[in-house]
Amino acid sequence: MEIVPSVLAADFGCLAAEVTQVEAAGVKMIQFDIMDGHFVPNISFGPPIVAALRPRSTLAFDVQLMISEPRRYAEAFVRAGADHITFHIETTERPLDLVEDLHKAGVTAGVALNPETDVLKIIDVAPYCEMVLVMTVHPGFGGQEFIPEMADKVRQVRELVGPAIRIEVDGGISPETAPLVVSCGADTLVAGSAIFAKADRSAAIAELHRAVERTEVVSIDD
Ligand code: DX5
Repeated sequence: MEIVPSVLAADFGCLAAEVTQVEAAGVKMIQFDIMDGHFVPNISFGPPIVAALRPRSTLAFDVQLMISEPRRYAEAFVRAGADHITFHIETTERPLDLVEDLHKAGVTAGVALNPETDVLKIIDVAPYCEMVLVMTVHPGFGGQEFIPEMADKVRQVRELVGPAIRIEVDGGISPETAPLVVSCGADTLVAGSAIFAKADRSAAIAELHRAVERTEVVSIDD
């Protein structure tokens, strides 16, 4: 089980210090929400922010491309210091080519599904990815309400991909919603406001861990 803080919810005025805080809390990875104001109705930040933080942190950098042209910009995020790149299945007609590009560039690859996108859309590409991201809100903003129907979608994805691939969830993940998605097969929990909206980030991360430590996970045969 991995808790992945989303820097979208952090204080951009002191981002390095914010990352240092969650690193001290023992997380192994942080997520960067890249938004282009086209695929999603918000603009966040680009490669320069990832590059600025790279020398300031030893964490794995999980970059989620909520952008219309992932293949055009993926390389720039690899150069900036990404360790993992997730693209949205809705943004490319050639997902297998993009996964190949990412692997050739030396990063792991993930494919993301928006809430309205059917699981079958990733059936051909998921076997070549290291992670599947199930969006549990409509992408674009932090602090939204978790969409309960997404729990069953997590279960469908776990049944589709089997036990070996990571399933990440992102959006409205809190101590209240985390046990549900974990019981359905999620193992990587992105949390923004549940961590950065709290004064004590370590305590917030510990609370998320406690919320899921006794959760029974659905059993999936290989
Ligand atoms: C949506 C973003 C958010 C963010 C986490 O596009 O991807 O889900 O990472 O937001 P919280 O955890 O605050 O709902």
